[in-house]
Amino acid sequence: MARIPMVAGNWKMNGSVDFTREFLGQLTTTAGEENAVETLLLLPYLYLQTAQQLLNSSNVAWGAQNVSEYAEGAYTGEISGNMLRDFACSYVLVGHSERRSTYLETNSQVAAKFFQAINTGIKPILCVGETLEDRNNATTFNVIEQQLHAVFENSQFKNCMGSGFIIAYEPVWAIGTGKVATPEQVQEIHAFIRQILAKYDNNVANVTRILYGGSVKPENAMEIFKQKDIDGGLVGGASLHSDIFREVISICNRFCLQSTC
Ligand code: PGA
Repeated sequence: MARIPMVAGNWKMNGSVDFTREFLGQLTTTAGEENAVETLLLLPYLYLQTAQQLLNSSNVAWGAQNVSEYAEGAYTGEISGNMLRDFACSYVLVGHSERRSTYLETNSQVAAKFFQAINTGIKPILCVGETLEDRNNATTFNVIEQQLHAVFENSQFKNCMGSGFIIAYEPVWAIGTGKVATPEQVQEIHAFIRQILAKYDNNVANVTRILYGGSVKPENAMEIFKQKDIDGGLVGGASLHSDIFREVISICNRFCLQSTC
């Protein structure tokens, strides 16, 4: 079954109002032509309003990089799913490895965030991935399975089947390091993720997009996108340069137009 590929840019804690305005202006002039691909920008919260204003009538979607695990209340400094809805966010990242490692988010907190997003009508992008230590200890599959099970084994998960959630596989050792997992390594993990999902719902496993993240750039994008179970990229560093990011989008688009995706 065809899955529309996605190229998502994760700006992390970078940017400014001026940078955002300029970048979005440049993006909308070309992204409209790359319509075999869904383009998404995951911005710092403070730039979501600018995105809503500038991207509203474009085919570029926007979203946030994190969401509170709570609906509302005394959680100083947090941002809820409903607040993201106010700025028409379509997607939100949950469980990015930088949240897991720097802010010590646990699998169960990540699951709570996943369901908060779903409950507020925002599609979560669940990030999973192993550290270098996990890979060296041959625990990669276990770690990823546990990260997925924290969400899939929750009783609320059965209500998420038609929600359009996304999974992003990001080996921690490949994020921001310039080290890219080989396309074969990535394909193996993506197939594994899809297999796990198929145990819950085969149809959902077929339609769910699984993105790869970790040093994606124009030089490696084509090889990555060619893999059967890779449905696009979650791009960090390279998404901060509009010409490079647009190149990744057009490589993905070109690949799609040549193939059956
Ligand atoms: P990178 O980041 O492309 O800079 O490796 C990816 C991510 O963290 O989402």
